[in-house]
Amino acid sequence: MKTIDPAVNVCLTSESIDRSYPIFIDGGLLSDRELLDDLLQGRSVCLVTNDTLSELYLSQVLAALGADRKVTVVTLPDGEQFKTMMAIEQVLTAALEEKHERSTVFIALGGGVVGDITGFAASTFLRGADFIQMPTTLLAQVDSSVGGKTGVNHPMGKNLIGAFHQPIAVLCDTQTLETLPDREFSAGIAEVIKYGLIADKVFFYDLIDNAEALKSRDPDVLARVIARCCAIKADVVSRDEREGGIRAILNLGHTFGHAIEKEQGFGKWLHGEAVAAGMVMATRISVSRGYVPSAVLDDLLLFLKTFDLPCTPPSGMTVDVFLRAMQGDKKVQSGRIRYILLSALGEASIVEDVSESEIAACL
Ligand SMILES: NC(=O)c1ccc[n+]([C@@H]2O[C@H](COP(=O)([O-])OP(=O)(O)OC[C@H]3O[C@@H](n4cnc5c(N)ncnc54)[C@H](O)[C@@H]3O)[C@@H](O)[C@H]2O)c1
Repeated sequence: MKTIDPAVNVCLTSESIDRSYPIFIDGGLLSDRELLDDLLQGRSVCLVTNDTLSELYLSQVLAALGADRKVTVVTLPDGEQFKTMMAIEQVLTAALEEKHERSTVFIALGGGVVGDITGFAASTFLRGADFIQMPTTLLAQVDSSVGGKTGVNHPMGKNLIGAFHQPIAVLCDTQTLETLPDREFSAGIAEVIKYGLIADKVFFYDLIDNAEALKSRDPDVLARVIARCCAIKADVVSRDEREGGIRAILNLGHTFGHAIEKEQGFGKWLHGEAVAAGMVMATRISVSRGYVPSAVLDDLLLFLKTFDLPCTPPSGMTVDVFLRAMQGDKKVQSGRIRYILLSALGEASIVEDVSESEIAACL
């Protein structure tokens, strides 16, 4: 297969060090031996995946890595409940037992869970090894594989332990989305429409117009949409890698969404489903403040319903329940809850003055 050009470049410069990396987006990338040879330059590999993905895609990735390369495969159990320090230890132990060196490249083959674990393990292996993301869910392709947030959960909360560690490349193979269950695909769509709302009005309407093509997973539409999402995320991350400010706009719907996930018990609602309901709440407040026209909310609701995504929080979630759950969120600063609202369609801002009655009006 011919080596392709990256669809997006993430440009990060700090202390005059250029840490830019390419994002490739195409069907069949997991089998692209030439591309992997280019990226790896003869280096050994520690490939991390889970038992679902290993059945589906491991053999083709191993074939593309070539028989003459040293490759260690670590297969984790599938599930968010396994995103713990135990998984990190399992990955690191395997790499150490196989006598990998700091030049080894870790590869994450899977969704956001595998990506977050692998990136964090790589960040700590011999004080820091390179890693490549091979995201296989829509959410991972448009969100978690880009931007360098890695980590695991702690019994006291989600993603509380981790590191900023950027990959050296991201390979989004759009063919992998063919096997993704509908519910997981829809959860990723919630993050996709978020980018239109916060950063690109034209993209928002492009998504509304192409809802059916997206639903049928048209590969050309998907590739174009994933590329736009990655470009928006890359732009925001390049301006604020460590979420000191502007990067927080990527959390539209997440303050309310995390409260929903927490109250329901993690895993009952998928992250993207909770974000969908949370985005509707944030958009409702933006409409009631006169920042965006109500037609935006109508378009958003119709779009989310096309993908069977929830548009309201679960019944029983009162204002008090929301406030209690949101106080415990790691996005709280100095005890104040930070909300992301739309200041216009395609523009977001961080606010702290959302009132209890504004939240009540969304329920
Ligand atoms: N690092 C970040 O910036 C960031 C951003 C958002 C979310 N996250 C994290 O990402 C995780 C969620 O990621 P996710 O939604 O990808 O979930 P996931 O990794 O759990 O994958 C969802 C399910 O789909 C399966 N799967 C993955 N790809 C498949 C494919 N191509 N075909 C069939 N099945 C497939 C997985 O095995 C799993 O059962 C959470 O832990 C969240 O905290 C991280």
